[in-house]
Amino acid sequence: MSSLPTTRRVFRRTDNHNPGSSKLQLQTEPIPALTPTSLLIKVHNISLNYRDANIANGGNPWPVILHGIPCNDAAGEIVAVGAHVSTFRNPTGREKTRSWLAADEDGVLAEFVVFQEWAACRLPGYLSWEEACLLPCAGVTAWMALRGGLRVILSSSSDAKPARISAQFLSPPILIVNYRTNPEWHEEVLRLTDGEGVNLVIEVGDSATLVQSMKCTRRGGIVSQVGYLSKSGKEHDGLEALLSVLIDRRIVLWSINAGSKQDMDDLCTALDATQMPLKDIIDSVEPFQKAEEAIEYIWQGRQVEKVVLRV
Ligand SMILES: NC(=O)c1ccc[n+]([C@@H]2O[C@H](COP(=O)([O-])OP(=O)(O)OC[C@H]3O[C@@H](n4cnc5c(N)ncnc54)[C@H](OP(=O)(O)O)[C@@H]3O)[C@@H](O)[C@H]2O)c1
Repeated sequence: MSSLPTTRRVFRRTDNHNPGSSKLQLQTEPIPALTPTSLLIKVHNISLNYRDANIANGGNPWPVILHGIPCNDAAGEIVAVGAHVSTFRNPTGREKTRSWLAADEDGVLAEFVVFQEWAACRLPGYLSWEEACLLPCAGVTAWMALRGGLRVILSSSSDAKPARISAQFLSPPILIVNYRTNPEWHEEVLRLTDGEGVNLVIEVGDSATLVQSMKCTRRGGIVSQVGYLSKSGKEHDGLEALLSVLIDRRIVLWSINAGSKQDMDDLCTALDATQMPLKDIIDSVEPFQKAEEAIEYIWQGRQVEKVVLRV
């Protein structure tokens, strides 16, 4: 890039949480100053997560800055480096940015972002920008929870959404449990695993679903608490059974908060080695200007796979 830009287009949250109101505002603002140890990154693609819609609608249980920039999954290229940057000296290479973002600090829904070099990861070279932007939050979280190939049982309130996924990934077959039509879904998981239970649970509900998940985990299995999606309003349902199930099944219960730069580097190394394509888990790619519609699409839970924005 011959001359560096001084301004950027960016979406910021309106912090108006009334239903039907605009949740994002597009604006042009100066690009933050490059410090001696930071990188100026031209963002190519951003992928959306439920978290982005939840924060834009006022649902985040942790601190959020006023009118912050949403989104924490992006891929871009370094176009300038500070004078003391040591790990990314070649500004023409493809690099990746991430941090613990988009809540109590600005996120990445912008044309350009500035990050400290220690927050950036080098991308697997075989991935497109659209695929690479899935990695920092969604990818690393899945990597932390799984770290290997497994047979999958997918829980959903829909029959159509998981049917589309299981038709796409045939081997090994993906099993499906509908948690809406089958409130005792943990019994179905036990049936599908010959009464033994699953090895690993990625728990995206809350305390209402946690104990149920533990009931269908095998003895010594692992439950990773990742999300807080349940909208049942019955947060404490079943919690009285927590300790007895935890001890009876000798479950390892832990929480995941995405991962470190080292975890992301490990994921990128594994992807480089396996050359696993990611384009088949992209629901759709929309232009940057459609950020607000895309966030609403996620908020309504209409996506089957990942929604990506193209800058
Ligand atoms: N801790 C971390 O590091 C981390 C990282 C990434 C995401 N998260 C959190 O993880 C959660 C999921 O995020 P996402 O972006 O993957 O969302 P997503 O794309 O909307 O996917 C959520 C999935 O969970 C299913 N689901 C929703 N409520 C459920 C329930 N009560 N019981 C069982 N399954 C249920 C949904 O099924 P249907 O819609 O088909 O019913 C859908 O398949 C969010 O709370 C997010 O904030 C945490």
